[in-house]
Amino acid sequence: MRKLFSTIEFKGVSLKNRIVMSPMCMYSCEQRDGKITPFHMTHYVSRAVGQVGLIITEATAVQPEGRISPQDLGIWNDGHVEGLKKLNEQIHTYGAKTGIQLAHAGRKAEVDSDIYAPSPLAFDESYKTPVEMTTGDIENTVEAFKNGARRARQANFDIIELHGAHGYLISQFLSPLTNKRTDAYGGNRENRFRFLREIIAAVYSEWGERPLFIRLSTDEYHEAGNTLEDYLYFANQLKALGVDLIDCSSGGVVPISIKPYPGYQVKRCETIKKETSIATGAVGLIINGPQAEEILQNERADLIFIGRTLLRNPYWARVAAEEIRYQIEAPKQYIRGWK
Ligand code: FNR
Repeated sequence: MRKLFSTIEFKGVSLKNRIVMSPMCMYSCEQRDGKITPFHMTHYVSRAVGQVGLIITEATAVQPEGRISPQDLGIWNDGHVEGLKKLNEQIHTYGAKTGIQLAHAGRKAEVDSDIYAPSPLAFDESYKTPVEMTTGDIENTVEAFKNGARRARQANFDIIELHGAHGYLISQFLSPLTNKRTDAYGGNRENRFRFLREIIAAVYSEWGERPLFIRLSTDEYHEAGNTLEDYLYFANQLKALGVDLIDCSSGGVVPISIKPYPGYQVKRCETIKKETSIATGAVGLIINGPQAEEILQNERADLIFIGRTLLRNPYWARVAAEEIRYQIEAPKQYIRGWK
């Protein structure tokens, strides 16, 4: 048995294999209304036909001012549910499970309106200076995540992933590089974690006993940023809150360029899994079957998130299987051409 093609269950949701389509913004809502377009249907559904186990949508904004770009997907009003529901229906037809990445870009939002963040610090000179969030703004944003969770349930998603990475809003609260608040939401790491803690409670109040993942930037590549020890603290908190998996990414908190290499984020993913025994997802230049299988067999992660490789080839699961001498079932329409 190859572990890459073994099943795994999260709170009653069973994935047929360990391959996850990593959330990737497609900037394709030309109408700027956050709604699913024919492109999104083709894009996500073709990866389901390609035998990906779990498909996570691109960052989907819980508030319009939290969009990374005006063309982002959204879930900030009830009108978004219908398109997302149709998307899920189609993906489910081909045996994949679905996740939605609930997101708010905070100071990295590129929209026409004012933008918001824990502290009034621009990401760099090309970005607007954000408005410092009041406690009222914080409450509204937590409520927006809660409403996003309700709509995700109504649209039949199997899993929610919170976008807590890459220097977007949740990540901005977690990091001492971007959170300079002096109230209960800033200062020590317990306070910096408060915003995320409140979001998780609000999400669970609508989402119930369904799986919840979170993506974190487990390395901020800055000496004054959160350390690995801080991330182990956050991971323990998340585990205690019943979060099912940490999707271990890195970077994006402050403008620092990094030089990625195959598996460059796996080390921290492995440490978090081993030290806290929460399930983890590995991501970042995982490009072939043997590499993915090694990570799983050596218990360095529970899921393998694939980004750009799946953009290049929606049928990557089949290629990865072949590389580790394993045969996966073809979608019934493709049986004659699959082997
Ligand atoms: C991304 N990535 C990303 N991450 C995320 O959490 N939410 C998102 O919406 C996006 N959007 C996005 C768009 C595009 C075009 C790319 C290429 C990437 C990051 C992505 O999920 C993944 O973590 C990285 O690409 C690293 O994995 P790969 O591509 O090396 O497999």
